[in-house]
Amino acid sequence: MVYEKQNQLYEGKAKKVYATQDPEVVIVSYKDDATAFNGQKKGTITGKGAINNRMTNNLMRRLEQAGIPTHYIQELNDRETAVKRVNIVPLEVIIRNISAGSFAKRYGVEEGIVFDAPTIEFSYKNDDLGDPLINDYHALALKLATREELETIQKYAFGVNTFLKIFLKGIGIDLVDFKLEFGKISDGTLVLADEISPDTCRLWDEQTHEKLDKDRFRRDLGGAEEAYEEVMRRLMGETL
Ligand code: TMP
Ligand code: ASP
Repeated sequence: MVYEKQNQLYEGKAKKVYATQDPEVVIVSYKDDATAFNGQKKGTITGKGAINNRMTNNLMRRLEQAGIPTHYIQELNDRETAVKRVNIVPLEVIIRNISAGSFAKRYGVEEGIVFDAPTIEFSYKNDDLGDPLINDYHALALKLATREELETIQKYAFGVNTFLKIFLKGIGIDLVDFKLEFGKISDGTLVLADEISPDTCRLWDEQTHEKLDKDRFRRDLGGAEEAYEEVMRRLMGETL
């Protein structure tokens, strides 16, 4: 199937979305733009768009094989991918295996504590409110999802974690935490959407604990480009 890129439907902080001739399919185009702290910090990570596109697609193909439905259809070029058109469930679903970031800050603990079991939390995806933390009862009250949808989201999110943790360990990376988004295709089926990349995951080298993700940009550590390239290099060593 050849998907034709038509009018732009949406531009986000890291991606643009275009219509195609098929109303059920859109094209996602990944940018090199990087933002943090709800867009207050802005910059560029050269080559990020292509890496995030190819890494997301690589991982989504693997997740599909592992039984997690995703929006992925077909990689079109370095930066662009055809995906199923979804209505995004306005929740950021965050899984953590090791303390870091807002968890460490909120609960006053150091980064790097390995949890006995992964945690899950939700943020209400709303830039005006700064994506506030929300619990499942609040999500139900706000009609962001049904009880059944929340249960499916939770099951898929832990499934993604189980798969990704083992897979990334195989390429020398500890999966610290990550954020997922889910969407509903036209018949209401829930699928994994958005991206899985160093923008949306914390990835630490298992030996050196060096940060191989967007925290290099968020925290002005330098070497963001090299970190993204290193993750990609390790990922591509594994063929699919
Ligand atoms: P946090 O520790 O800042 O809450 O972030 C948890 C994970 O979620 C981390 O891997 C980065 C990712 N994340 C996003 O993908 N988008 C966001 O807007 C935020 C705040 C975090
Ligand atoms: N991408 C998000 C923003 O700009 C936050 C982040 O990833 O830290 O707000």
